[in-house]
Amino acid sequence: MKFFLDTADVDEIRDCLPLGIVDGVTTNPSLIAKTGRPFEEVAKEICEMVDGPVSLEVVSTEAEGMVKEGKKFAKIHKNIVIKVPMTPEGMKACRIMTKSGIKINTTLIFSANQALLAAKAGTYLTSPFLGRLDDIGEKGTELIKEIRQIYDNYGFKSQILAASIRSPEHVKEVALFGADIATMPFKVYEQLFKHKLTDKGIKQ
Ligand code: G3P
Repeated sequence: MKFFLDTADVDEIRDCLPLGIVDGVTTNPSLIAKTGRPFEEVAKEICEMVDGPVSLEVVSTEAEGMVKEGKKFAKIHKNIVIKVPMTPEGMKACRIMTKSGIKINTTLIFSANQALLAAKAGTYLTSPFLGRLDDIGEKGTELIKEIRQIYDNYGFKSQILAASIRSPEHVKEVALFGADIATMPFKVYEQLFKHKLTDKGIKQ
């Protein structure tokens, strides 16, 4: 199972590097805006730090605009993956960019059928948003089980990237349910190391 950091903060990424367990990074326009730095500069720096996929999200809502943005982002570094939303226009853009060799991360997935559509459109990564399903009273991690089964039934190669992860419990459940990747905020990554009996054992 791969771990991605859901951040655009290069200090957080740097902190994790010595352990060698961060396999990629996911960002979105709000995370990049939070850094107060130019988009391309941050993206490039992240790509040079992490040897794995780095997702950058488009903001256009029409396929044509998404493809234009995606092609521009893809030139920044070979590890860039383009994040497009789960809409018909997003899936059109997914098909076009996939054909030209650009990898796609389909984001804002909230149902198994949406994950099926994304796989059929050739997405490289499928991002179900767990925390946001929990927010509306559903059990987000159940969606991972469903997508896993569907992808295995048909041999879809798209990787399930569990996103909108809010807690170590989410990480455990998505690992049990067969997600290929969990992308998490730095705070959750730090919490994974913690157990009160570990602290107590060290003191003893
Ligand atoms: O991985 C997606 C993430 O950036 C959104 O998380 O917590 O805003 O639902 P959240």
